[in-house]
Amino acid sequence: MNEKTLVGILIVIGSLVGIAVIYFMLNQQPLYNNEDVPENIETGRVLYASNCLSCHGDQQAGLTFGKAPPHNGNGHTWHHSDAELIQWILEGRPINMPAFKDTLSREDAEAVLAYIKSWWTPNQKATQADISRRYQEAIDRQNENN
Ligand code: HEC
Repeated sequence: MNEKTLVGILIVIGSLVGIAVIYFMLNQQPLYNNEDVPENIETGRVLYASNCLSCHGDQQAGLTFGKAPPHNGNGHTWHHSDAELIQWILEGRPINMPAFKDTLSREDAEAVLAYIKSWWTPNQKATQADISRRYQEAIDRQNENN
């Protein structure tokens, strides 16, 4: 094996290790820490009003059969992890929930979620944060066992 081939192989290995490290670090980080930042909540409020309000209703919305579920404590949004909620906002859901990935960036979706969270009671917020953490731990374990 000549020197060039060796250097090439080392570069490839180095890049793979680098990618693995970055992937690992991204997975370790909490989804985001900005949910209590007033600017994000305000950005989320504006985005929610133009993209979500018509179907999901506002902070006072009640549960109505056959309609989009409310995102306040009357609904079940707070029973789901951040990772799933962000994914559903961006990718949509099977029954009449449009995908927003062409309209909203990931940061936008996070801001909308930050706004929705501002409707939850401290207990709902704490419970949902716990669900997010457990979900992420389960995903991490899944990845380790693969
Ligand atoms: C055209 C009406 C419509 C619009 C607009 C809409 N949704 Fe939905 N959404 C639905 C329906 C209907 C469901 C229930 C479908 C299902 O769960 O499969 C749903 C489900 C969801 C869910 C999962 C259920 C839950 O409460 O956890 C989330 C999260 C959600 N929407 C967030 C949003 C957000 C955020 C926006 C704005 C960016 C939005 N939706 C805009 C109709 C809509």
